[in-house]
Formats: sequence, C-alpha cells, structure tokens
Amino acid sequence: MVKVKSKYVCQNCGASYSKWAGRCENCGEWNTLLEQVATTETEVKSALAKGAVSGKKLEAVSINTIEPSDAGSRLPTGFPDLDMVLGGGILLGSVSLLAGQPGMGKSTILMQVCSNVANGGHKVLYVSGEESAGQVKLRAVRLGASSDKLHFASSASGNDIAKTIEEGGYDLVIVDSIQTLSMAEISSAPGTVSQVSNCGNLIIRAAKSSGTAVIIVGHVTKEGTLAGPKVLEHLVDVVLNFEGDRYGGFKTIRAVKNRFGSTTEVAIFEMATKGLVEVKNPSEALLAERQNTDGSIIMATIEGTRPLLVEIQALVNPTNFGYPKRTASGFDLNRLNLLIAVLEKRTKLSLQDKDIFINVVGGMRLNDSAADLAICMAIASAAAGRKLNDKIVVFGEVGLGGEIRSVIAPDRRIAEAKKLGFDHAIAPATIKDKFVLPVKDLRSALVKYMNNK
Ligand code: TYD
Ligand code: MG
Repeated sequence: MVKVKSKYVCQNCGASYSKWAGRCENCGEWNTLLEQVATTETEVKSALAKGAVSGKKLEAVSINTIEPSDAGSRLPTGFPDLDMVLGGGILLGSVSLLAGQPGMGKSTILMQVCSNVANGGHKVLYVSGEESAGQVKLRAVRLGASSDKLHFASSASGNDIAKTIEEGGYDLVIVDSIQTLSMAEISSAPGTVSQVSNCGNLIIRAAKSSGTAVIIVGHVTKEGTLAGPKVLEHLVDVVLNFEGDRYGGFKTIRAVKNRFGSTTEVAIFEMATKGLVEVKNPSEALLAERQNTDGSIIMATIEGTRPLLVEIQALVNPTNFGYPKRTASGFDLNRLNLLIAVLEKRTKLSLQDKDIFINVVGGMRLNDSAADLAICMAIASAAAGRKLNDKIVVFGEVGLGGEIRSVIAPDRRIAEAKKLGFDHAIAPATIKDKFVLPVKDLRSALVKYMNNK
C-alpha cells in the first residue's frame, strides 16, 4: 500500500503544518486547518524549473455547435415534487449529494427512489457502507421495494465503488454514506476531509465517464459543522438538503445548488409507516390542529414557488433572572432580535424584561422576509394577551422605521388564503385587492387589528 504523505493547510491564509492544530499560528483563525495530500516541494520545484509551459493548446469550439448533453436522459424518481426540485428528474451522468442529519430519512427516501427507478426499467445499485444486506432488506421489505433490476452491495471501499460505477452498467447508483468510505491510498480514518474529498472525486470521475447518475449520502450535524460533506459541495452537480424535525413534523428537501435546474423549488414529505410520503396539501395539514390562542398568527409564506400557510406562535414571559432570553425555532434568531428592537422603538411595547420564544409550527424553517410582520404581531399578541381574528392571515416585511414593505408573490399568498377559507390578509398597503387589509406601519397594524381579548 502506498502511503501518501499529508499536510494540514489553513483554509484562511494558506500556511501549512505537519500536525493538526485548533488554531492557525500564522493568521490566528480557529478551526481552519484541513488535511491535504502533500505534493513534495521538490516535485513542484522541478516542474517549475523547466520554465517552458508544458500544457497543450485547448481545442475550443463555438458554443452554437455544441449539442446539449441533457435531452431526454432524466430518470423520474416517482416523487413529482422531488423531480421538480431536481429540475425534472435525476440527470444521467450527474452526481448529487443528499445531506441531512442522521435519522432524517435519507436511506429511506433513497430506497424508495431506487425502487421506483428500477420499476421504471432501469438498472439500479444501492451501495451501503453502514448497513448489512440483511438490514437493508428489512427496510426494503417495509417500503415494498422489490425488483430484479435493483441490486445491493455492501462496501466501504471508495476504489471498489468507483470501479463498479465505471463498469457495472448501472443507470443509478446510491452511495450511503460518503463518511463510511475510505481509499486504500490514504491512511487517515473514514470521514476525514481527505478521505471524503478523495473518495468523492473518484466517484464523480467514474460517474462522468460512464454516464451513471450517482446520489451520495452525507451526514451533517445539527449545526452543519461536520466538514466532510461541505468539501463535497463544490465538486458535485446538485446539493440537496434534507431538513426538518427528526421526530414527526414535515421534512423538506430543497436544492441549495443545482447545475441543471433552479434552486427555488421544495418538496415536502412526512414519515409514515411505509416510508416517506409527499404532502400534497401542506397548508391544510399545518393548520389542522390550530387553536387560536394569543400569540398565534397564521402567515402566508412562499416555499419555492408554492404558497403555504403556517402558524407562528409566540410566548412572552417575564424574565426571572438576568438577561431576557430570546429563542426561535424555525426562524433566524438575529432577525428576531432586530424585530424586537423595532417593536420596542416604534410601538412603545415594553419588552426589555421579557423572555420571548418563537415557534414555527410543523418543523418548517422560514426564510421569507414576509414573516417579519407575522412575527411582530405574534409577539405583540402574546405580550398583550390579545388575539387576532381567526380568519385573517398576515404577511409583510418590516423595516427598521417600523414601516411595512412589499414582498414577492402577494397574489399567490392571497389565493392560498382564499382557498383555505380565510376572509382577509393583513398585508402591505401597496397591494390593491379587496381581500387585503392594508397597513402602512407596525403601530397602526397593532392598534387596528389586535383587539380581541
Ligand atoms: P433512515 O432513513 O435510516 O435515516 P438516515 O438514513 O437519514 O439516517 O430512517 C430514519 C427514521 O425513520 C428511522 O429512525 C425510522 C423511521 N422510519 C419510519 O418511521 N418509517 C419507515 O417506513 C422507515 C423505513 C423508517
Ligand atoms: Mg442511513
């Protein structure tokens, strides 16, 4: 076995060390040293010393004469929403990374996809480095996955898997998960940056040369800190994030990078006894268990291109000791602090001695600036013990001056609210629609509509 020497290079300033350290001594940044395979200095020097350019001239062609490689080579996954996220199915020859926390359901959804693709007449291989054939079979039985064209192999060798992709003649190969793989040439443990990026590279090369579609599973921790899958993000064609609550609630798959489609779409799933199922009418499901207490506001948001009604809950309690506590689940904490500051300054609501908790129901994560107004109204509602009318949805961005600003796609938000039986929307005054109760600033929104005890 050839031992490849490795060195540790600071990703911030480029200084290199022979040993790993938590802090780069050169630039002082923490946690920036990554392991890399070392090219010996003499090799580089001798190449440079020759002086002459050793490459050859590239054969460039006019872009008009190039055939697109895509046409008609997409595999449908059997989940229409997931296909939409991928830009119309899995492209042959593409490499995707499915990243998510352990236990989210990555292996489950991929087994379902494998089964659907195999039943569509394609040759599929599922490679697992973490589970035995018996365990995977158990899951397959549970999910009702059975097909002669669906093969399984258990392996943790990056070299073997790449070879199999190259020569196996498969249309789709799943690699579960990249953290368990290792390459014979590298001595570091599976899951380290050098193993993950080198195995990733091997697999990507094999996929491109054979035209096989590959989906690689990557575990990330809650904070997304584990460096492993992060280094892969630059190499693969598509990065899918699998997010949500591990225990019940909705799970979403969205593309954070997609070389063959847009990154705005999102697929919403729910874990059932027979695997993941697409949620066809998420708004209805999210509102099913609602009780209109104070602090509860329904917001009309947009997920990808889809409108969605979600409940935002706020709890405002007196602070017992020390600094007031502010916590948000499903919403950005910095944005919450900003909105609290705006509320205090512009509406004279006193919150400096209050603990504030925000919860977005159903495990959804809001990345929509239109959530501002709903968050502010939920906090005000909880603080004052007043309720908003049952039949009103809310959306709008809040500026630092307390003004309500317009947001994208108001028509789709309004249409969804109408469909689910709401009467009105508190929304930016720029929208001309009878359905809308127009508001110009935060203070008037609270004074006018927050009046039911
Ligand atoms: P899994 O796909 O193994 O998660 P990951 O590969 O992301 O680590 O499974 C996630 C959880 O889903 C597991 O704890 C059990 C549960 N589950 C169901 O509720 N129903 C099912 O049909 C299956 C297969 C799993
Ligand atoms: Mg798994």
